[in-house]
Amino acid sequence: MDETTSFFESAPLLKDADNITSKLTQFIDQNSSSLSGSSGPRRVVCVTSGGTTVPLEQRCVRYIDNFSSGHRGATSTEYFLKSGYSVIFLNRRGTCQPYCRSLPDDPLLECFELTNDSCIQVQESHSEAVKTAIREHHAAVSGGLLLKLPFTTIFEYLQILRLIATSMKILGANGMFYLAAAVSDFYVPWDSMAVHKIQSASGPLDMRLAQVPKMLSVLRKEWAPTAFCVSFKLETDKEILLEKADKALKRYKMHAVVANELSTRKELVILVTDTAKVSVYRENHNSDVESPLIKLLVDKHSTFIKNT
Ligand code: PMT
Repeated sequence: MDETTSFFESAPLLKDADNITSKLTQFIDQNSSSLSGSSGPRRVVCVTSGGTTVPLEQRCVRYIDNFSSGHRGATSTEYFLKSGYSVIFLNRRGTCQPYCRSLPDDPLLECFELTNDSCIQVQESHSEAVKTAIREHHAAVSGGLLLKLPFTTIFEYLQILRLIATSMKILGANGMFYLAAAVSDFYVPWDSMAVHKIQSASGPLDMRLAQVPKMLSVLRKEWAPTAFCVSFKLETDKEILLEKADKALKRYKMHAVVANELSTRKELVILVTDTAKVSVYRENHNSDVESPLIKLLVDKHSTFIKNT
């Protein structure tokens, strides 16, 4: 607890906190009072996505980053929306976004062409993908079903996650957390961080990184004790993956842990719960492993709501 308090007390102030809080309040008020088909009040899931950075200087020139592309979070968001959930998408700036997966890397330059000096049109080969992306994204955002909140650093991520979790408290068991972001384990505390660019003239750099407190227990115990919580476990050594996922399930009292190995993460995940370990495969090369995964989690969430 002390580590958590000191993390937040020493973190730089979150810019835009009031604006984020007001967007969250409006989104949750709207969704908590609306119904989702025949299945009762609308459920809201917070999907976290992409990697957090660790700044090395307060006026940041250099930072530590990780591999996460945000594909898992963006894809899962689409399937949650399809299943009737509203989604708060806490995402790393610049990573993969919902409904943009089938667009090329540089959509603006690759999808559009000039017909003459004043007219721009979508290239025929990309027109279906562009239309679908715009239509579905617009429907989700303007329908009040998708709220996108971006972060870059570990400080922003954890502060926004706390705001989301405390705002979602009123949803009770209808709230879900799906923590797919790759969160830094080590960081430089703000008050011991160099202010200006670290100089290379002084020779090799020795740096001691502090451990980022695991927020999963705080989330479960304090921030959102009544929500359904799913965390992820990533390893590169599959021999230790299931054991570590099991430990996380018990230690942090998660309702489910999604275990995945770095190199096969798009093909296979293992859903670990108190009662079973279920391997979830994508159906074929053109399908997403998130499709069967979200189906399973939605069922588990329904059972959780019934039993609460
Ligand atoms: O983005 P992609 O390229 O599509 O890749 C998807 C993914 C591999 C990033 C995703 O499927 C995944 O596994 N995300 C979790 C990665 C991770 O941080 O694993 P971990 O074993 O280090 O952490 C386990 C859990 O603890 C995570 O849910 C994380 O949110 C949480 N955590 C981690 C560190 C920390 N200080 N506090 C935390 O709460």
